[in-house]
Amino acid sequence: MRAAVLYQSGEPLVIDTLSVDKPGPHEVLIRVAATGVCHSDLHMADGSFPAPVPAVLGHETAGVVEAVGEHVRTVKVGDHVVTCVSGFCGHCQDCITGHLSICQVKGVDRPRGSTPRMTTPAGKKVHQVGGLAGFAEQMLVHEKSCVAIRPDMPLDLASVIGCAVTTGYGAVVNTAAIKPGSTVAVIGCGGVGLMIVNAALIAGAARIIAIDRVPAKLAMARDMGATDVVEATGDVVAEVVEMTKGGVHYSFEAIGLKPTVEQAFRMLRPGGTCTVVGVAPVGTSFDIGAMDLLLERRLQGSFMGSNHFPIDMPRLVDLYMQGRLKLDALVSRRIALEQVNEAFAELKTGQLARSVITF
Ligand SMILES: NC(=O)c1ccc[n+]([C@@H]2O[C@H](COP(=O)([O-])OP(=O)(O)OC[C@H]3O[C@@H](n4cnc5c(N)ncnc54)[C@H](O)[C@@H]3O)[C@@H](O)[C@H]2O)c1
Ligand SMILES: [Zn+2]
Ligand SMILES: [Zn+2]
Repeated sequence: MRAAVLYQSGEPLVIDTLSVDKPGPHEVLIRVAATGVCHSDLHMADGSFPAPVPAVLGHETAGVVEAVGEHVRTVKVGDHVVTCVSGFCGHCQDCITGHLSICQVKGVDRPRGSTPRMTTPAGKKVHQVGGLAGFAEQMLVHEKSCVAIRPDMPLDLASVIGCAVTTGYGAVVNTAAIKPGSTVAVIGCGGVGLMIVNAALIAGAARIIAIDRVPAKLAMARDMGATDVVEATGDVVAEVVEMTKGGVHYSFEAIGLKPTVEQAFRMLRPGGTCTVVGVAPVGTSFDIGAMDLLLERRLQGSFMGSNHFPIDMPRLVDLYMQGRLKLDALVSRRIALEQVNEAFAELKTGQLARSVITF
């Protein structure tokens, strides 16, 4: 099967023909229909977030179950599925208390030393990232890395539920659990940030301020529900504090940069909460003023929207079907697997919301 392979971090992905094994116990072979290109894939491809090589990236996938191994109970051949990097063990303290997205046991990869799921033409093991590998025609995963969805959901739009939607919506609804009537600011309106805006609207925010350096993104944010937009040219903190007469109740950073995380924290009113969704390069630390913190401002991370994806994703599909989740506007471009490096280049300029590879 054809796949885009990361052979060397910092180099373009290479289209190659890989072998994929048969499903073992608890494994599911998926015929990939669509995979979105997330900035986290670019972080891994360019090395700012380390990944083992060779690897197939791509973690925002929807497809159809082609085969299942022994003991698979949650999906069957022919089911439409969405995948998630939040594979979970189901038994640890975090899983049992409802925090499966931070499960550290996972167990979604094959045990060390077993036959690899994927190999190169030379027979070398190809790594998956987060137990997935969506930049490929087929993907062999653990059953705890996917969930079945209703079959009338278009698969190209379902793919983005795999990461951008789950992450953005979950950051608002699960991690920050914003209150209706509150004021929200979002710095960075890419795939994830636009979904934060959309979720803030669904969750009843009274005012949603979208901030980006690209004007086209601000227009998209308005379509997603932003009530105000700020072009990130001048002092965005001063602008937001002035607009809101003292700062926002909730801010979200969806880029992954030290200066914008610090801006997001500084635009909070006393008692406000800043949720950092962007992944800054490994080793980054943030300067947070002691006096800002004293007045009960909070800074928190959010990993994959603190999801419970087997429950959340089918609900997100329903929200799309009801017209509340604006996925048609999020998916700006459908591309072929061969164009994946182009999609990475576009992520660097920030002109598009989401590119989705369709097979
Ligand atoms: N926490 C998680 O679980 C999780 C999950 C998915 C993605 N992420 C991370 O979220 C971040 C966003 O991902 P994405 O796919 O939406 O990325 P993206 O590239 O589509 O969006 C980033 C946006 O930020 C804007 N931007 C860049 N620099 C800016 C600046 N200085 N000021 C204002 N705007 C600026 C760009 O114009 C773009 O619209 C990435 O760091 C990604 O790794 C985190
Ligand atoms: Zn992602
Ligand atoms: Zn667990």
